[in-house]
Amino acid sequence: MAVQISPSILAADFARLADEAAAVPNADWLHVDVMDYHFVPNLTLGLPVVEALRKATDTPLDCHLMIADPDRWAPQYAEAGAGSVTIHAEAAKAPIRTFREIRSLGARAGLALNPATPVEPYEDLLAEIDMLLLMTVEPGFGGQKFLDVVLPKVRRARELVTRYGGRVWLQVDGGVDADTIGRCAEAGADVFVAGSAVYGASDPVAAIDELRAAADR
Ligand code: DX5
Ligand code: ZN
Repeated sequence: MAVQISPSILAADFARLADEAAAVPNADWLHVDVMDYHFVPNLTLGLPVVEALRKATDTPLDCHLMIADPDRWAPQYAEAGAGSVTIHAEAAKAPIRTFREIRSLGARAGLALNPATPVEPYEDLLAEIDMLLLMTVEPGFGGQKFLDVVLPKVRRARELVTRYGGRVWLQVDGGVDADTIGRCAEAGADVFVAGSAVYGASDPVAAIDELRAAADR
């Protein structure tokens, strides 16, 4: 599959989100990090902001829910117009039901795994999801250093996804920049979240082009 870049608005200016969305016309997705002070020690934004962003941009929203009760809230993000809704394995209590609800509302369903969470126990869930997100930092904050220790898991996840027909996208999130993206792509990732590497750059459009080229090599 072609490389996809999903800039994380966590690194954008929250007071100017519509402008920040418009600043990345070459993005495939806008990555929206929802944090609740419970699943992670940080608080960001929720449904009202997603609803407002949906009206402000045509770029599909890739909502990453780092929240304690994703089964309760995930369907509402799909209803709010998210193109993709990803929930964490460490937080979900009824993930299969939640994936089915997300999909029935017309959004893609994603499963996220923290750096220390193994992928193998979730192999059978690949049938229920459209994307597997492997965290390459501990979730909660942008601007952290990429964890190379996750790369073998990316490789194993690619093998599992390929065995299942290759339909499921493999996303990496955290510390992805022009230096680390090549290693992620080589390991088998095809969707790349980048916060600081895009919104921290003086030219976000050029930064996305550079990431895409580095992942394609
Ligand atoms: C971290 C978030 C990431 C974050 C990535 O918990 O899930 O999406 O925005 O930011 P960078 O690219 O700066 O590591
Ligand atoms: Zn994220």
